[in-house]
Formats: sequence, structure tokens, C-alpha cells
Amino acid sequence: MILKDKNVIVGVTASISAYKACELVRALQKDGATVRVALTPRAREFVGEMTFKALTGEEVLWDWRSGKTSLEHIYWARWADAFAIAPVSANTLAKLRFGMADNFLTTLALAYDKPIVLAPAMNTKMFENVATQENLKALSERGHIIVDPACGELACGEEGAGKLADVEDIKTAILYAIFEKPLKGKKVLITAGGTREFFDPIRYISNNSSGKLGHELAKWAYILGADKVYLVSAPTCERKPYCVERYTVNSADEMYQKVMEFVDDVDVIIMNAAVADFKPTSYSSKKLKKDSQELTITLEPNVDILNELGKRKKEGQILIGFAAETEDLEKNAVQKLKKKNLDAIVANKTEVFSSDVFSGKIIFKDGSILEIPPIPKDEAAYRILKEIFSKIR
Ligand SMILES: Cc1cc2nc3c(=O)[nH]c(=O)nc-3n(C[C@H](O)[C@H](O)[C@H](O)COP(=O)(O)O)c2cc1C
Repeated sequence: MILKDKNVIVGVTASISAYKACELVRALQKDGATVRVALTPRAREFVGEMTFKALTGEEVLWDWRSGKTSLEHIYWARWADAFAIAPVSANTLAKLRFGMADNFLTTLALAYDKPIVLAPAMNTKMFENVATQENLKALSERGHIIVDPACGELACGEEGAGKLADVEDIKTAILYAIFEKPLKGKKVLITAGGTREFFDPIRYISNNSSGKLGHELAKWAYILGADKVYLVSAPTCERKPYCVERYTVNSADEMYQKVMEFVDDVDVIIMNAAVADFKPTSYSSKKLKKDSQELTITLEPNVDILNELGKRKKEGQILIGFAAETEDLEKNAVQKLKKKNLDAIVANKTEVFSSDVFSGKIIFKDGSILEIPPIPKDEAAYRILKEIFSKIR
């Protein structure tokens, strides 16, 4: 419940995608937030206040007469930890740029003194119109957080930019607006997933890593303020996190090469990937036939990426490793930490692989240990980064 005790206002304007605001409200509530909804008067023609009232259990406001007092725009602005307008129409963007306060939502926006998350949605021509682009630029320069629309088929039948961004990405931007920024000024490289070591065009040796924790770590590195986040991942079903540059690789050798491209540019490296220790000694470019009763695959050691990173660690660079063990978790993790020149290691049992829940320990270079109890992987990623960066500055 990463948003427990947090108050979020979702503003909704008169866009065809207004119904998606219902999903956003639910997603925020699932993370523990208390959500209130403010509508523009015209938005009520798209989704009625009854829907939002039922979803939130809170009052839904669209003008001053709909509130208990005539100063609700001030009280709501004070109440909120985050304020997102999703979808925000071209019309409301223009009003926000010029500080107009002609309805409850725009007045609330003017009374709110922190960055607002703005997720535009509209027809491509409306989005690309110089007026809209200038409004977005001005609002971004003022510090508001713009969640760019996605490309795709729009309700009007046209194709292009203008679809409301994915709810997950809008939620990430809301988290960005709320959380502290201990990673500000840092460039971060994260690896994720289980590498695939092919021995013919379709068959490979791999492991059970889902890449989920690595993707959550990348998402949280962005939320906690990293200037740039590179994610080098083995193939996974996980979505690309918002504002993260993701590169997909197959084998340990490919991962090594990609990691080496960024290594000199980054301040922090988090090696979360489950890199296969061994790879087949031979590769058949033709699919192997099942003619014989037996197939022997000989394996040889893979490149030890973490070890190489530890050897070439530059002054001030922070290197974090992961250790998954079936037994002697702490002892093996401490050995790995020392041998590979790490600043900290996150140790977990192998059961954590492909699970939605993480538990383990963070072991620091100075010998101190911090337990992470079983929690969902998104919360675990936040805890891991927060704990590491409050200790290692
Ligand atoms: C069916 C329909 C769909 C619309 N969809 C959008 C939209 O997705 N984005 C947008 O900016 N305007 C859209 N508009 C135009 C806005 O509703 C119009 O500009 C309105 O004045 C915006 O009011 P508001 O910003 O106060 O909510 C749509 C209009 C209609 C009739």
C-alpha cells in the first residue's frame, strides 16, 4: 500500500477518454490512496458524478454550489498530496496556461501550489496544433508534469498521437509528484530478468526470473529522481516502465556488451538480472531433430558481469548486487559482496523468483543488515532504493 495515508485529486475534463479516469481512480485506491474527483461542468456529459461518487465514497465537485462551502477549491488544494488532471482537454490546458479560473477544476488548479500531473488526450490535429503545443511547453516549463499521450487509433477514427497515456504511466507520474528525490543528479543502470542461453534457434537454457523486481527498481529509480534510468533486460512480459530507457537482450554475453556501453556514464549500477552461470558450448543454426534417444548439452561458464563491474568500478560509483540462494543465504551473500567489490547486496531465497512478493535482506559493505519483510515487489523496490540511498550517499 505505497499510497497509504496519501490524498490524491483526479481532475476530469470533457474528453472522450474521460471513462479511463475511473480506472485511474481504482488503481490509486488499490495502492491505498484516498481519492477525490473534480469535474469540469462539460465532463459531466461524458461520465456522471454518480460513477465517481460510488467509486470514491467522497464528494464529487464540478462547481461551487456542489460543495459544502464556497471555499472548497482552497480546502481541496490544501488536502491533496497530489493532483492529476487525466484526461486534460485542449481547452483546459489553454485555461491552465493563462491562469483562468472559470470553473471549480481550473480554480482548484490555480489554488494548488505544487506541480500538477497533466495527461492530455485529444484528436491528433488538436494535439499537434501549435496552440496546444505551446500551452504544454509553457506548463512543463512551469514545473507541471506532462504525461505524453500515446499513439494509436483514436475514437475519431484517425491514427496518431492523442490517446490518453496508459493508466499505469499516469500513476507513476503521480508517484513522481509525491515522493522524495534521493536519486536526483544520478544516472542509474539496472539489469533484470533471466538470460537465455540458446543451443539452437528456438531452444535455450534459462531460469525462472520474471524480471518484475528489476522493472520495479527501474520505475522507482525514476520516481525517486534519477536523471536517467537505463534498464537492460532479458526477455520478459513486464511493461516498459514510464520514462525508462529499456534494452532487451538474450544471453549473458549480450547483456555484458550492453552493460559495458553504459558503465562509464552511470553513477549507480544495480545488477538485479539472474544471469545464467553457464552457457552451451555449441550452437546449432538448424533446429535439432529428435532422431536420437539422447541429447547431451555441454556447458561452459558465462562471463561474470558483476565481477567485471566490481573490478572496473570507478571512484564514487555505487555497485549493488543480488544473491538468490537456496541455503546459507547470508553467508553466501556476504562472500559475494566482498569478492565482487560491492557496496551492498540484496539477498533473497529463490522462492522470490516469479512471485509478486519479495522478502530478503540488504547487506551493506560495513556489515550492517536490513531485513525486508514479505511485501509486494513494487513496495520492495521502493524500500530497497530508499534504504540503500539513505545509507550510501
Ligand atoms: C464527443 C466529443 C469528444 C471530445 N473529445 C475531446 C478530447 O478527447 N479532447 C479534447 O481536448 N476535447 C474533446 N472534445 C471537445 C471538448 O469537449 C470541448 O473543448 C470542451 O469545451 C472542453 O471542456 P472542458 O475543458 O471544460 O472540460 C470533445 C467533444 C465532443 C463533443
